[in-house]
Amino acid sequence: MAAAKVALVTGAGSGIGRAAALALAKDGYAVGLLGRTKDELDAVVDEIQKDGCKAMALLADISEENEMAAAMSELVDQFGRLDVVVANAGINGVWAPIEDLTPAEWDQTMNVNLRGTYMTIHKAVPHMKSNGGSIVIVSSINGTRTFTSPGATAYSVTKAGQLAMAQQLALELARYGIRVNAICPGAIDTEIDDNTHIRSKEETAIPVEWPQGDIPISNGEAGTSEDVADLVVFLAGSKSRHITGTPVWIDGGQGLLV
Ligand SMILES: NC(=O)c1ccc[n+]([C@@H]2O[C@H](COP(=O)([O-])OP(=O)(O)OC[C@H]3O[C@@H](n4cnc5c(N)ncnc54)[C@H](O)[C@@H]3O)[C@@H](O)[C@H]2O)c1
Repeated sequence: MAAAKVALVTGAGSGIGRAAALALAKDGYAVGLLGRTKDELDAVVDEIQKDGCKAMALLADISEENEMAAAMSELVDQFGRLDVVVANAGINGVWAPIEDLTPAEWDQTMNVNLRGTYMTIHKAVPHMKSNGGSIVIVSSINGTRTFTSPGATAYSVTKAGQLAMAQQLALELARYGIRVNAICPGAIDTEIDDNTHIRSKEETAIPVEWPQGDIPISNGEAGTSEDVADLVVFLAGSKSRHITGTPVWIDGGQGLLV
């Protein structure tokens, strides 16, 4: 029997993706958790199923066409439909001076963050056209509101590109009742530093004097994955029915300071 509503979350084994998958399950969605690390995905699936909700793990690299096509078929075969896509998986990649950033490092960030987001939506939309739905792209304040992370040129370009993708597709897909929005987080306490490689920061850092506590709403504390997950659930569901093509900055005011 087809599940009531079905959501796909990429990068669902950790951080924002994990919190979004848990929150969507709690909100009644059957959830496909897609990522590259089976153990992490299985642990989140177990957590969701223990609460009596529906979930399945989908092992795929978001930049690989065949893997994404197979994962999408597996999800729709299992749950019968697809209503919500959270294109969240991403990496910080290498942050370095432009002359030092290698073409391979540039390509890696583009492949995961931009090609991966394109691939996720490219493979999902055929399953969403008949029912309509909501696509939520997890971008960043980098590249959309701030440009101050030292050496983060490739990362910022992908995050700006993701917002452009959301706005372009909001128009293209409106005729099918598919909304497309972008979430732009500031500093959120996750494992993303594990895939961040910073070189020669002293050459790219901007000598700004930051005010005491750089995140106004929370005395300088980073946001949590759960803060972002609540926004994902809002943008996924009918309470945001008139919102499309919109960036939502979720940064406690951090991005307004620079
Ligand atoms: N944490 C922050 O401060 C912050 C701020 C702004 C934006 N973001 C964005 O939020 C998103 C989630 O990041 P996070 O902070 O939760 O970090 P995270 O590292 O905890 O989560 C990222 C997840 O994506 C997965 N992933 C990476 N490459 C993949 C690939 N090729 N195929 C499939 N899965 C892949 C990882 O395995 C991981 O589970 C990213 O797009 C990131 O750019 C994070």
